[in-house]
Amino acid sequence: MNIDWNTLGFEYMDTKCHVKYTYKNGSWDEGQSCEDPHLNMHIGATCLHYGQACFEGLKAFRGQDGQIRIFRPDENAKRMSSSARRTLMAEVPEQLFIDAVVRAVKENSEYIPPYESGGALYIRPLLIGSGARIGIQPSDEYTFIVLVTPVGNYYKGGLKPVDAIIIDGYDRTAPGGTGDVKVAGNYAASLQPAEIAKEKGFPINLYLDSREHKYIDEFGTSNFIAIKDDSYITPNSKSVLPSITNKSLMTIARDMGMEVEQRPVEFTEVESFDAVGACGTAVVLTPVDKIYQGESVTTIGDGTTHPKLLELYNNMIAIQRGTVEDKHDWCVLVND
Ligand SMILES: Cc1ncc(COP(=O)(O)O)c(C=O)c1O
Repeated sequence: MNIDWNTLGFEYMDTKCHVKYTYKNGSWDEGQSCEDPHLNMHIGATCLHYGQACFEGLKAFRGQDGQIRIFRPDENAKRMSSSARRTLMAEVPEQLFIDAVVRAVKENSEYIPPYESGGALYIRPLLIGSGARIGIQPSDEYTFIVLVTPVGNYYKGGLKPVDAIIIDGYDRTAPGGTGDVKVAGNYAASLQPAEIAKEKGFPINLYLDSREHKYIDEFGTSNFIAIKDDSYITPNSKSVLPSITNKSLMTIARDMGMEVEQRPVEFTEVESFDAVGACGTAVVLTPVDKIYQGESVTTIGDGTTHPKLLELYNNMIAIQRGTVEDKHDWCVLVND
């Protein structure tokens, strides 16, 4: 093992092992550690044909004190359960989910980037229908996997603002669809608009509500947040994935004395915001300077990172990396 922690990006890398649990005849087994990163799967598995697949994303950090902290795995367990219910898959009990995550992190602790590098161990729990069906119906067998891979620090030398674009003609989800759960099919549908955005030079794209294209839903892989005076504003659309980063930042914002508004946000409001950010596990918070749509451009703020965005970001990473008190009890501590 010879990893240059300072040049790590956000790419998959094999580690020592993943953990795998199987659900058969109505119950989950004890799980096992697997060194081979390949799965031997039935050709009729429902995840392959009917998209019975959902996943999660969270991180473990090596603290300044040497301690390993996993950020809010109980929240990811709950969200995976809601994805499982929406796609008629067997739910992974919360304690089993947390045990599996802890097990995968412990077994791969040598892959957790050191505190000084600013990197983290990205954790990817995956739940799939692995039993064979030919008629469209749910599987009777499920496989739950937790794999991990080390990822680098995206921000070296300050938050990096980006410009975003709305790609007209593409919706992320439908009213009554699966936008509020983390199922694989949502991401298949998002690949093409994300690619079009990249070809036009934009690292992220913004989705408006699919009924009227009037209200903001979220970015491709992150929630939309805005700052106006002393308020933290975020859409409360039914089609948005409930981001655990957003939920945590809302609590931190309240702790900072800010007002939190979760409400429908019209796109026309954006020009009145002091700052806009995209939030999610991957980078915590990315400031958004401009949003393009067709021929029009909406400019936000004055081109500098808003001090409240920076404060939200700093407070969040301090909790994750154990440099301030974790007063909401968010981190699960793991010993090597
Ligand atoms: C569509 C979408 N929205 C928001 C998020 C951010 O969620 P979280 O903060 O839980 O990572 C993600 C990433 O998981 C996502 O894929």
